[in-house]
Amino acid sequence: MCGIVGAIAQRPVTEILLEGLSRLEYRGYDSAGLAIINADQHLQRERAVGKVVALKNKLKSKPLIGLLGIAHTRWATHGKPAERNAHPHVSNNRIAVVHNGIIENYEVLREELKAEGYQFESDTDTEVIVHLIEKAESQGMNLLEAVMSIKTRLRGAYALGVISNDEPDHLIIARHGSPLVIGLGLGENFIGSDIQALLPVTNRFIYLENGDTAQISRYEIALYDVTGESVERDIVQSNASMGSCELGEYRHFMHKEIFEQPQAIQATLDGRLEADAFVNCISGTTANGQTAQQVLKEVDEIQIIACGTSYHAGLIARYWIESMTDVPCNVEVASEYRYRRQPPKKNLLVITLSQSGETADTLAALEKVKQTGCLATLSICNVPESSLTRESDFTLMTLAGAEIGVASTKAFTTQLVALQILLGLLMQAKQADQAKIEHLITGLKQLPLLVEQVLDRDTAIETMAEDFIDKNNALFLGRGEQYPVAMEGALKLKEISYIHAEAYPAGELKHGPLALVDNEMPIITVAPNTVLLEKLKSNLEEVRSRGGVLYIFADKAAKIAKQDNIHIIEMPAIPESIAAIVYSVPLQLLSYYTAVFKGTDVDKPRNLAKSVTVE
Ligand code: AGP
Repeated sequence: MCGIVGAIAQRPVTEILLEGLSRLEYRGYDSAGLAIINADQHLQRERAVGKVVALKNKLKSKPLIGLLGIAHTRWATHGKPAERNAHPHVSNNRIAVVHNGIIENYEVLREELKAEGYQFESDTDTEVIVHLIEKAESQGMNLLEAVMSIKTRLRGAYALGVISNDEPDHLIIARHGSPLVIGLGLGENFIGSDIQALLPVTNRFIYLENGDTAQISRYEIALYDVTGESVERDIVQSNASMGSCELGEYRHFMHKEIFEQPQAIQATLDGRLEADAFVNCISGTTANGQTAQQVLKEVDEIQIIACGTSYHAGLIARYWIESMTDVPCNVEVASEYRYRRQPPKKNLLVITLSQSGETADTLAALEKVKQTGCLATLSICNVPESSLTRESDFTLMTLAGAEIGVASTKAFTTQLVALQILLGLLMQAKQADQAKIEHLITGLKQLPLLVEQVLDRDTAIETMAEDFIDKNNALFLGRGEQYPVAMEGALKLKEISYIHAEAYPAGELKHGPLALVDNEMPIITVAPNTVLLEKLKSNLEEVRSRGGVLYIFADKAAKIAKQDNIHIIEMPAIPESIAAIVYSVPLQLLSYYTAVFKGTDVDKPRNLAKSVTVE
């Protein structure tokens, strides 16, 4: 993962770099660092373990002032979080590098450089890069030539920012695999891992293509493609706003984002529903000019690819798509899909789901699909102009607004809304039963209000969460499309409260997991009023008769009586078509309050990052 920011300006850049780092912290927060070239043309560096604020505090007592600088926030891959492993890495006290990605052949390069006398300070894969550049430079190349020359030695993924005290008027960057964007100012220019980092200083951007290298000066950008030829890239004017990073009345972003769901869902629905039809809101065309409507008419199979929470949204959508159309739908995690051989399928629509649009595995899976061949690719994404949206034929945006908490909440429910919109458009293209289309629309129109009603149960859920403080394990159960809802509930609990949690289809319990059930194992279940409700109730009896303690979010119609080992929170009556979306919300709150009681870092849980930009 990791976040990179850099600046070359006519004013001191430290504040710009620190603000950029704070805005990139979702990519990693193990340690942070900054290097500048000062007025005496000396390279100066400061690094700190922990969040960006630790670096800011260090710089208060020991300010670094310069007009050229690079900075980095780290998510450790090679080498534990420690100051000596934090970027920027330096060679010969004159060249500094920040890197996002992984250099796969770093061990060989490290041995080679050591044999030539280079001394390594860190355990990172990155340090080989800065020594390779130093070596090339000391052989007579300028910084740009040196960076270009060493690219052929690197295997893996990288976005690089490089400065040298010999060239105080240039910032050199290179991209292969990991994202990198140039921000254009007036007499000043910037680099960032994404545009969010740079929105306080500009809204004009150049996205680097894979293989690109650039020399950035205050007034000039010289770009070179993978072959080293000089190249022009489009300048994109972004409408993205800085987004609210304020907590307001909330203690955590996750809590705020859970409570923003009614508005986020409404925003994702606005202008996309008529009384009796879904409005086409898919942008883009295929390479041969086909529109989304044409593609949806032709498609005879769907493949959904995603990671983590987005993958769970895909699993839920499979139930919807296959129950409402005759189009078969597969769903797979991107990290597996990208390495599995797939026969080309002529009429396959590939849908990638991602909050960030920068998830490395999802991007790699998309790349593979494009090489194998399919009818079209469509991304459902929350970040406009992200790598995923730029690489896909079609885009359907979720309008959740910036999601800051590492645990995805409003991005998930708005993905589900977008998937229902896509389903509606598919049904229209396939000329499905009009009554079924209108039924979907009716459900979606009720959704924001129903989510609000569930949020009213906040205090009851907080009380329920007290029971989980001393638990080490939890089981989540669901049937039908509520099974992936249970999977998402288990993921939320483990990622922020560090309680080991597993999800099972309730009917699968008797095939093994029932052996785990005792009064120390809380069992959390969602029980909406669906065709599988009676089956689910039988499964819950199996648990109860073995001493299991049940925590159930149930429709009133479920008629499950409160008893000693059954804790119930009654849910409003919810149409089956949107039950999976609404029932996800109490599970988010349950995880949130459990984590708060346990005192974990809710918004930045240990070992994780918001955007997983490495394999
Ligand atoms: C969600 O709570 C997780 N932090 C994580 O599973 C996330 O959903 C996953 O990394 C995929 O991210 P994306 O949606 O940005 O691609």
